[in-house]
Amino acid sequence: MNDRHMVLGMLAYATGQHAASWLQSTAPADATTNIEYWRSVAALAEEGMLDLFFLADSPGARTEKLNDFSRFPYMMNMFEPISLLSALAGTTKHIGLGATGSTSFYEPYNLARLFASLDHLSHGRAGWNVVTTASDYAARNFGLDKLPPHGQRYARAREFFDVVMRLWDTWEDDAFLADKANCRMFDPAKFHITDYHGEHFKLYGGLNIRRTPQGRPVIIQAGSSEEGKSFAAEAAEVVFSSDPTFEEAKQFYADVKGRMARFNRDTSQLKVLPGLSVMVGSSKAEAEDKYRELQSLIHPDVGRMRLGMDLEADLTGLPVDEPIPEHVIPQKANLHQAYFRQITAMIREQKLTLRQIYSSYDRGKVTLCGTPEQIVDHMEEWVDGGAADGFMLAFHVIPNDTTDFVRKVVPELQRRGRFRKQYTGTTLREHLGLERPANRYAR
Ligand SMILES: Cc1cc2nc3c(=O)[nH]c(=O)nc-3n(C[C@H](O)[C@H](O)[C@H](O)COP(=O)(O)O)c2cc1C
Repeated sequence: MNDRHMVLGMLAYATGQHAASWLQSTAPADATTNIEYWRSVAALAEEGMLDLFFLADSPGARTEKLNDFSRFPYMMNMFEPISLLSALAGTTKHIGLGATGSTSFYEPYNLARLFASLDHLSHGRAGWNVVTTASDYAARNFGLDKLPPHGQRYARAREFFDVVMRLWDTWEDDAFLADKANCRMFDPAKFHITDYHGEHFKLYGGLNIRRTPQGRPVIIQAGSSEEGKSFAAEAAEVVFSSDPTFEEAKQFYADVKGRMARFNRDTSQLKVLPGLSVMVGSSKAEAEDKYRELQSLIHPDVGRMRLGMDLEADLTGLPVDEPIPEHVIPQKANLHQAYFRQITAMIREQKLTLRQIYSSYDRGKVTLCGTPEQIVDHMEEWVDGGAADGFMLAFHVIPNDTTDFVRKVVPELQRRGRFRKQYTGTTLREHLGLERPANRYAR
């Protein structure tokens, strides 16, 4: 990459992130677990020369509101992500392969081993999204009644991360000799045992796989709390941010990068990628129509359920073409203040009906509708204005919106010199302009 190039990742959720994406005629009925389908989507992302193909994850199906989730089956039926990326490593050549791995529900040894294997299988294209997982559905699959408190999850995450990083340095880069003449496969002096006694983990051992092509997989992070941001500044190489406005994104960008000096890190070694959903049209009006039509396909049960979550109210059975009655609205928000404020303003100030609200509300996220030129204008404004190093593309409908982006927006980015015309490196680190880390034990 050169200094003007943006970083572009794709948040790959089977048929797309939109609640109605699986209803499209182009969506295979079995898309989420159809490996041929996944291969075709990864190939499309690679045709667009994107940096990163990323799989979000949470280890747990929902066990409540099954009527509603049966109409919006997000994370109800899916591949385990490292298994899927291992399969895709064989059919892609260049694109980075990233996945979420939970610090709450893995042991560090398992996780270190899995991602090290993925980095080898893909010849240096692996990335680990370090998350603490905020889901009681997941917690209940691992012997807990509910999630431990936020601070406790992050404390475990810090230790977890520390152990994983040590394990990835078990072997120095040149530890393996394969010296057949002298019957010596590896140099014992270049094997380093991790002897760890922490609050959450106790471990004595070494990873039984050699150091990975990238030294270690690229570290991704997506938390926006104080703990999340300081962890990002200290250790992450890619951060997914989720600020809907330019001003908020710019503030986040400055905040996280500003904290890096404390850890002696150069700001170029952390890529901040806000989420971006786009709808491409031959005119802005056409793109907006397309988006409106997609929104109109949201099933009322799904609309009520998703809105109800953020309004912290049970909207089950309420008529969709009437306003939400005042008596169901809680006095104040307990979970997300910003979401709550946005919805109550739509009810009280804009006087919208339930359907009108769920058809336009998207958790503070904005979908950029426009021509390829307008979309690239926006992307350049954010990158040149200090709010982003690139974007995580969250396509509403895959492969349709991905195809539009790859065949219409990418060429416009290239024409303006803002994106690569071909892959020049082979590893994810090289795509992103990240240094290969030295082994802590190497002399
Ligand atoms: C692009 C993006 C992808 C994410 N992927 C996951 C995921 O796969 N699994 C998960 O549990 N959380 C995921 N998250 C949520 C964050 O990792 C994090 O849990 C959340 O922002 C709360 O963190 P905080 O408490 O530090 O604010 C994602 C967030 C973003 C913006």
